Amino acid sequence: TSNKLDNCKPVSYPKSCKELLHLYGCLPDGLYILSSSSGATYLTFCDMTTNGGGWTLVASIHENNMYGKCTVGDRWSSQQENNQNVPEGDGSWSNKVTFGTVEAATSDDFKNPGYYEITAQDMSVWHVPNELSVDQWKEKSIFRYHTENNFLNQYGGNLYNLYKAYPVRYKAGACKTNNGPSSPIVYDHGNAGSLPKFYGPSTTIEYEPGYISFRAFNNEQAALALCSGVKPVGCNVEHICIGGGGFFPEGGGRQCGDFAGFDWDGYGTHNGWSASKEITESVVMLFYR
Ligand code: G3P
Ligand code: CA
Ligand code: CA
Ligand code: CA
Repeated sequence: TSNKLDNCKPVSYPKSCKELLHLYGCLPDGLYILSSSSGATYLTFCDMTTNGGGWTLVASIHENNMYGKCTVGDRWSSQQENNQNVPEGDGSWSNKVTFGTVEAATSDDFKNPGYYEITAQDMSVWHVPNELSVDQWKEKSIFRYHTENNFLNQYGGNLYNLYKAYPVRYKAGACKTNNGPSSPIVYDHGNAGSLPKFYGPSTTIEYEPGYISFRAFNNEQAALALCSGVKPVGCNVEHICIGGGGFFPEGGGRQCGDFAGFDWDGYGTHNGWSASKEITESVVMLFYR
């Protein structure tokens, strides 16, 4: 007797926007349903057009309260206060906790199973002003850029694996000597020359433009997770890098939070070490391909 299920086709969803694009040949940018290998489905945004398309949105880093220092909403650093005993903070860069929704990706943090499930070669990053709706993201973004050297092949195919190798943990290393990898980027919108308009004037000696960099330490050995658009060459990386561990010694915890020390010389002032209001009030979206 044959089993009724023998000829039954399984319901299947693609695992990434790249896989979906290959199935259809061409598709518009927009929201699509993807699946993890265990069958958990989720909705996310696919950039199906930039540089051949197939980019899966896996995360957004949003600062909901620049005055809240490692408080509620600081999921990409710590929601447990500036605390030496929680050196990795919430651990979001290297765990499988997911949060947020794609439609709210400019209004809160977002992380989906693609972050740790997809095996990718390259990344694309968008800086999008807060609160914009999905159909406005691309045209109103401040920066859009991507890597094209397949750098993720060397680091396990995604950020989950990369950050397992380069933990975002206070005192796991020292500035410059133990920073993680950097990859050159190609701009799709905006350009490296305009970075000084967004990061504080004092920071220009701290970075080299035209890269995306992972896991950078500052002078006090606090760990920052992501330096988008730059490669750090100095040790005050808390003003140009985002996300981090759970302890930032300088200034009694004033640098603890998703956008670290972006407000060191005042919120949105673009004076000294402070970033502009525009970049402080924009999310950083991470895509894989
Ligand atoms: O990160 C900047 C800090 O280390 C120095 O700040 O206020 O002494 O210029 P300040
Ligand atoms: Ca905060
Ligand atoms: Ca946040
Ligand atoms: Ca500093």
